[in-house]
Amino acid sequence: MIVLGLESSCDDSAAALVTGDRRIVAQAVVGQTSAHQPYGGVVPEIAARAHVEILPTLIVKVLGDAKMSIHDVDAVAATAGPGLIGGVMVALLAGKGLALAAGKPLIAVNHLEGHALSPRLADPDLDFPYLLLLVSGGHCQLLEVRGLGDYRRLATTIDDAAGEAFDKAAKLLGLPYPGGPALEELAKSGNPTAVPLPRPLVGSGEPHFSFAGLKSAVQRVVASGDFRREDIAAGFQQAVVDCLMDRTRLALEKSDVPTLVVAGGVAANQAIRSALANLAQTNGRRFSVPPAWLCTDNAAMIAWAGAERLVAGLTDDLDAPARARWPLDERAERVRGAGVKA
Ligand code: KG4
Ligand code: ZN
Repeated sequence: MIVLGLESSCDDSAAALVTGDRRIVAQAVVGQTSAHQPYGGVVPEIAARAHVEILPTLIVKVLGDAKMSIHDVDAVAATAGPGLIGGVMVALLAGKGLALAAGKPLIAVNHLEGHALSPRLADPDLDFPYLLLLVSGGHCQLLEVRGLGDYRRLATTIDDAAGEAFDKAAKLLGLPYPGGPALEELAKSGNPTAVPLPRPLVGSGEPHFSFAGLKSAVQRVVASGDFRREDIAAGFQQAVVDCLMDRTRLALEKSDVPTLVVAGGVAANQAIRSALANLAQTNGRRFSVPPAWLCTDNAAMIAWAGAERLVAGLTDDLDAPARARWPLDERAERVRGAGVKA
């Protein structure tokens, strides 16, 4: 079984072909960093137009690399949200067109489910249930992944997402967009204890995350001119690590799932990956994390989520909606500060 996956919900256009036995037959991702860099963040209108130009060439490329035609795939899986709606519509409509023309099933994938299941693409031994820390540009959540389509949100952010915090702190430090990888690089030469920074909600009995106060503190220390940029970067990254660890520890104490998993763009961060590996070990849990390229936005995770859904018989009709907002746990209470990016 082989599924074509399409992704365009933020600023990465991507296509991939993935088999039911976890083979990534072909994949391509094109980011739009240079188009958005002058604005210091993603401009939705520019992103949507760029997807229209880039995505079809990526579809042709992955099919060509695999020496296949659209008639050889078993299904077309396209991100249908959540995300920047103009961009979401590009992959979804491209997917519908291909599915319709080739007479293949369509799978409208939740981008967050793509992130949530991506560790299962990389790790054949990862069974349900697991505790997932989902950290991306628009989300910071702890979820119990009980099965395909069965998610229970244990915690979310009450203000900024983890990636958003990285991007804002990076901007304050004069680093280019996207800030996460640039800040991680700068932090390598800094001292994480040289700058006093807060750890919002650490030690609190409530489950949620908060990063807005940390960003304001970074703003103050940058403005003071009293600290080296690399020390601020290292201090900020350490504060985020401490916040993520504290909240995840709390969730592990309340849950009996055997495995801890991290996914989403921020999971590409090495300091976060190793801290979580330690946390899992101390708490007697198995740890699973996809390779860094599978953490940031890509279409292999969308194709894989499509493959899991196809096996379960979960396909969609051609009137499947594009959704700007699409929580994984529809029953979870809405908390202020939920972002639109995925
Ligand atoms: O999942 P993703 O690629 O896109 C969304 O769906 O949001 O996540 C992008 C986010 C950005 O905020 C980016 O700065 C952050 O992930 N990120 C990182 C790293 N690589 C990407 N944050 C910290 N360290 C990194 N190495
Ligand atoms: Zn994402």
